Amino acid sequence: MDPARALKTVAEFGARALSSTPLPELLDTGAQLAREVTESQYAVFFERSPGGDALLMRAGGGWRPGVIGRVSLSTGAGSFGRYVLQQPSRLVGALPSHPDFGVPAVLREHAVESMACVRLDGLVHPLGTLALFNLRDEPGPDALIFLQAIGNVVATAILRQVTEEGLLQSQIRLQSVQKMEAIGRLAGGIAHDFNNLVQAIGGYTEILLRHLTEGDPLRRNAEEIKKAGDRAAALTRQLLAFSRQQVLQPSVLDLNGVVHHVEQLLIRLIGADIHLRTYLSEELWPIKADAVQLEQVLMNLAVNARDAMHGGGVLTIETANVELTRSIDGEAFVVVAGPYVLLAVTDTGAGMNAETKARAFEPFFTTKPPGQGTGLGLSMVYGIVKQSGGYIWVDSELGAGTRIRIYLPRADSAAGHPAPIAPALEALPPVPPPAHGSETLLLVEDEAGVRELIHEWLAGHGYTVHAAEDGVQALDVAERLDALDLLVADVVMPTMGGPALAKRLLQSRPDLKVIFVSGYADEAIGDRRMLEDGAAFLQKPFTLDDLLRKVREVLGEQAPPSRAPGEPR
Ligand SMILES: Nc1ncnc2c1ncn2[C@@H]1O[C@H](COP(=O)(O)OP(=O)(O)OP(=O)(O)O)[C@@H](O)[C@H]1O
Ligand SMILES: [Mg+2]
Repeated sequence: MDPARALKTVAEFGARALSSTPLPELLDTGAQLAREVTESQYAVFFERSPGGDALLMRAGGGWRPGVIGRVSLSTGAGSFGRYVLQQPSRLVGALPSHPDFGVPAVLREHAVESMACVRLDGLVHPLGTLALFNLRDEPGPDALIFLQAIGNVVATAILRQVTEEGLLQSQIRLQSVQKMEAIGRLAGGIAHDFNNLVQAIGGYTEILLRHLTEGDPLRRNAEEIKKAGDRAAALTRQLLAFSRQQVLQPSVLDLNGVVHHVEQLLIRLIGADIHLRTYLSEELWPIKADAVQLEQVLMNLAVNARDAMHGGGVLTIETANVELTRSIDGEAFVVVAGPYVLLAVTDTGAGMNAETKARAFEPFFTTKPPGQGTGLGLSMVYGIVKQSGGYIWVDSELGAGTRIRIYLPRADSAAGHPAPIAPALEALPPVPPPAHGSETLLLVEDEAGVRELIHEWLAGHGYTVHAAEDGVQALDVAERLDALDLLVADVVMPTMGGPALAKRLLQSRPDLKVIFVSGYADEAIGDRRMLEDGAAFLQKPFTLDDLLRKVREVLGEQAPPSRAPGEPR
């Protein structure tokens, strides 16, 4: 081997690797150059398979056609593959009679006699081995050093490519996260504004309906308005759920319980042609989530599955404990390692094509005919899962069914025992009719439509209502009042928001009860302390009966003129 030529070759090959030569080409060139300079008969880059159980003859020269890119060798005990992977760098003579391994057929067929090999180390596992066979001169240390130099260049190029691919992946991931965030903000903003409108439409229609007798010809019209308003309210709630603006009421619970709880409902939902199978893992870890919202998740997924299985099929719901020992690189996000409870919902339906799969969580994305889907089902599921700190995945292929996997973080066991699941939806006791009252209320709401509506409604049920547009005006009004039992305030208002107002009023009226009203979860959560201190919360849009009930609930039993101190709020 000519040392000057060897040096020059390494320098040139290094320069090539630094330019943007594609990796397969670089591997080929490296193996060829090594072969030429060392005057060997054969050169090969053995690539280690991802699992490490094989070495693929990835690039090289001198071999008969059909070897490179095709033949792979085992790395099992006593194999040649195992041997070379264990050697950082090695010269081997008299290969056929080596005591540590049998010579693989492909090498015997090429009558290999001697070998020089160097291992290319990656960050965790070896990337593979660069090897030369049948060096013309007695294999000497120089050839090995040269091979090592070429190998280092190859290894660096491979690692660089892996890193670049990783970067690209995370860029794509970031873009998709940013897209969902942007849509979420937009949807949240729309929902927020809609809330006030829906609130006013629904509320005034309720009032209208009370004034119209059964036989009134206008009654049907008002009922239609009410129905449309209810649908709008449902849509708004779904949007809020997607944008994670919904107020969740999480508790530590057993996911299996949630599944059991909706099972009968799901069976009815999917119809007789579809079989429901449940595989619920025993001793499931507790999770912290909102049970009602999780039921919504299951129902949405079941309806989607049903719609995808026209000719019938099987819907499978599974739960399991999963300990993720390392973070998972998803297409759209990274799942942090840790203990999770898995909820998987699988159908044998039509599946999704790549575009549908990529856009399935987008609000208003639907492939269903107009009137049959709003495209908010999965959006809502996504929002609920994210707001609960979980992850969601879609595995689906056209014609091969769909599997939705949801990972919810295991709840801290110190947080308490799983709460029993509330009685089934249908079995809830009838809600008592909202009661009248005679207490004095201060209503603070900046939206004139909503303010007048609530004012009229509460006054119509016996309460003495004083209204204000914002916190500052409310302080003024309160100043002139002797009795004040309850403050009903929007959370966010210009000049002074609900929580700040409540704080001020509570200083001089420690017995004052408080109900906050808001369309945003964040607003409530932003002042969680106030809420945890016992202030009640009502999320828009609410029905007027909801409001009456809440008012009564917060004020306690029918109006005793003064309350004993320390009475629970
Ligand atoms: N299990 C499934 N199998 C096949 N396609 C599905 C499945 N689940 C969702 N999809 C696809 O994703 C789209 C969006 O689903 P999503 O639940 O958000 O809206 P939708 O079902 O169309 O309408 P909505 O749920 O608001 O009534 C669906 O239109 C459908 O194309
Ligand atoms: Mg749906």
